[in-house]
Amino acid sequence: MTINASRPRIVIEPPGPKAREWIERDKKLLSTSLTRTAPLVPEETEYIWIKDVDGNIYMDFGSGIAVVNVGHRHPKVVKAIKEVVDELDHTNSCDFYNYLQVIYGERLTRLVPGNFHKRIFYGNSGTESVECALKAVRWHSPGKPYIIGFVPGFHGRTFGSVAFTTTKLTARRRFFPFMGGAVHVPFPNTYRCPFKGLEGDDCVEAVLSYMEDFLFKHVVPPDEVAGLIIEPILGAGGIVPAPERFMRELKRMSKDYGFYMIIDEVQTGFARTGKMFAIEYYGIEPDVMTLAKAGANGLPFGPCVARAELLEWDPDAHENTLGANPVVISAALAVLDVIEEEKLPERAAELGDYFMRRLRELMDKHEEIGDVRGKGLMIGVEFVKDRETKAPNKELRNKVIEEAFKRGLIILGSGTSALRIQPPLVIKKGHIDIAVEILDEAIKVAKS
Ligand SMILES: Cc1ncc(COP(=O)(O)O)c(C=O)c1O
Repeated sequence: MTINASRPRIVIEPPGPKAREWIERDKKLLSTSLTRTAPLVPEETEYIWIKDVDGNIYMDFGSGIAVVNVGHRHPKVVKAIKEVVDELDHTNSCDFYNYLQVIYGERLTRLVPGNFHKRIFYGNSGTESVECALKAVRWHSPGKPYIIGFVPGFHGRTFGSVAFTTTKLTARRRFFPFMGGAVHVPFPNTYRCPFKGLEGDDCVEAVLSYMEDFLFKHVVPPDEVAGLIIEPILGAGGIVPAPERFMRELKRMSKDYGFYMIIDEVQTGFARTGKMFAIEYYGIEPDVMTLAKAGANGLPFGPCVARAELLEWDPDAHENTLGANPVVISAALAVLDVIEEEKLPERAAELGDYFMRRLRELMDKHEEIGDVRGKGLMIGVEFVKDRETKAPNKELRNKVIEEAFKRGLIILGSGTSALRIQPPLVIKKGHIDIAVEILDEAIKVAKS
């Protein structure tokens, strides 16, 4: 089936009658911990389009949280899945060998920065990839109980990763104790600095000084730090790129004090930011890189790539049943093919620049937009009550998402008051123009 669309088409105000029925049944059944942004019940997906059960067609600028980077049901990914299920299904790769994992691993480990021997472990999700990273770092660092994370970072919701997830208290409330040894440092958001009154480089210096002059002198002996975990661009924490100097200094500290750097590219990976991996912007070779989301375009996938030494540990120290079965890994191989053939990093960089330029034009019309930032097609649009005080305008942000949705544009929120704009990387310029037109209208209505 194909969705024939050149722009969103709302035939009945969502949620329509069929969607309402599903939502009612869902509400009685599914865990109430799911947050839900909009009353969308998809029936069909293709390219950048989602058709709901009532026939409305939406333009998907959320990509299922940065997952369908090559577009919904990319024909090459669909073909790869169909071909492999005619030959192979699950066997398990702790007890036996899966040659497709070797083919993929050889390819991915070459793509991850770092001219040294690397190994790979296959999890099924972002949080599983992070668990592998944390366990590997800890296993190799006896006598070093601490791992540093940054606030507000997001790394997952299992008991290891959630120790470093600090986007919202709701993710943490009632769950403590998590994994021990997590130390939290403010992320240097140069737009809204955690140290009040500071901006730009001063904010970066303040955080660095907090680490070296305070944390490492009074709280945590740096020689007892096993590693740190950081997103090169905060995803759920508001789409905030880490300042270059900050990342370089973290790298220096990791060398000076002898700890590992875990770079969490679960959201930024696979061409999203205009590079294959966002860490390439910083020229840093990660000791460990955690990946998931876009890797298999929506199939459960969470590879963890590391310096070989880190994934050289005792048999049984870490394994799973389902990691990267033949269906998932075939889809993942097809995703790499599409990224290369369609030059998606370059495309994301070019379209991202255009998109941000168009969004900055909206800033001239709407003083409620305080900031437009990001890299490639990972863009944050910050809503404020006042550009001077930068007070977050969460209510307006939420209303804009709602109004955009009513007009057929799917956009997610991030952080306290930002839009998270992450369309499939295969969009065309014209789709960006449609999105900007809808956003403009949505903001006008939302603030009226
Ligand atoms: C940077 C980052 N790390 C880890 C995760 C956890 O991934 P998952 O939801 O697949 O467990 C996410 C999810 O949004 C993420 O954005």
